[in-house]
Amino acid sequence: MVPSGAITHTGRSQPLSPLHSMRATLRCWATLCMTIVAACGGATSEPVSVKTCAQDPTQAKCVTVTPQVDSGLRFYATRNGRYMGTALDAAFGATSAYDALVSREFSLITAANAQKWQTIHPSRATYSYARADAMLAFAQANGMKMRGHTLAWQNQNPAWLINGAFPADTLAQILKDHISAVLTHYKGTIYAWDVVNEAFNANGTIAATIWSNALGRGYIETAFRAARAADPAALLFYNDYNLEYTGAKQDSAFVLIQDFKARGVPIDGIGFQAHFQINADGTGVPSKASLTSTFQRFAALGVKIHITELDVRVRTPGAAQLELTAQTQAYSDIVGACVAVPACEAIVVWGVTDTESWVPSTFPGYGSALLFDGGLSKKPTWTAVKTALGG
Ligand code: XIL
Repeated sequence: MVPSGAITHTGRSQPLSPLHSMRATLRCWATLCMTIVAACGGATSEPVSVKTCAQDPTQAKCVTVTPQVDSGLRFYATRNGRYMGTALDAAFGATSAYDALVSREFSLITAANAQKWQTIHPSRATYSYARADAMLAFAQANGMKMRGHTLAWQNQNPAWLINGAFPADTLAQILKDHISAVLTHYKGTIYAWDVVNEAFNANGTIAATIWSNALGRGYIETAFRAARAADPAALLFYNDYNLEYTGAKQDSAFVLIQDFKARGVPIDGIGFQAHFQINADGTGVPSKASLTSTFQRFAALGVKIHITELDVRVRTPGAAQLELTAQTQAYSDIVGACVAVPACEAIVVWGVTDTESWVPSTFPGYGSALLFDGGLSKKPTWTAVKTALGG
């Protein structure tokens, strides 16, 4: 059964309001016009990624959604053919007020920690799905999608894996078995997986990890192939931070995807983590124009774009008005850049409230990075996102 407010990918299973129908028609015409312009050699920002819903029904613009409440960000995102998401962690399930806010505001969730190796695969022979399963059940009951996070990373791995001193072939088998087990457990339910997380250094070289140290960069391909084999319906993403800035790291991610596309290695999307910091002079976040051209650069490879872990930290306490203004501008710019690029279909913030955010403990002296304060009140950043989504 499809719950009320459900997002479906059929593009036809839910009745459309006249307003939705009109918008859908306009979107079809817009798509058609862009296709014609592209076919005639005219200028279009995205010659490769603009597809009709018949060609690619997995695009967010093709889903049919009846949002439950018209005041949440998910309403405005849905109207724009986008998902608005959040990461869930310890606060999920603790109070009904928090959970109600999540279902009102968001149409997509990510487990901040519950699907990492350390949590989900605590001993070599044991998998522990309960916490992530509860999040998935919540998502399904509230017409939301879930992103899976993450299958191959350097951090938050269990001791048995880190200290196992496994020979390379055994380690490759462990990676494949883990991906196969987890994706089989969630088969057909997870919208997109962050298959490999943070594989590159700032200078563009492959980061030294438990995986690359033993298997070289080939572990990335191994992971993506194992993921496609286990759940062919899940979208497969490469996810990393600081890809929002032009330079060596962004270039390496670009080359990785270009190579995978050329050789037929499965990959469907790129995740821009988007963990930003506002400096004392208000700088720190690329302009909307720069973010837009970065997203277009990757869209031209034919992959989807998700903003996967968005937060914008400022100095705490005592951020000046200039810094707070830069922060709301940053939210506006990143969401606006996503809305400007058809291939960008999801914006996920890394937590709901400033108090649960990972920022204060990870970046001492910084905080206040999200859309709601600890009392669940909306902040100016919320308004900036709503406005950028066209609300
Ligand atoms: C963070 C979590 O939010 C914290 O609770 C945890 O202690 C450390 O990891 N990049 C990622 C995320 O891909 O998984 C990280 O999440 C933040 C950085």
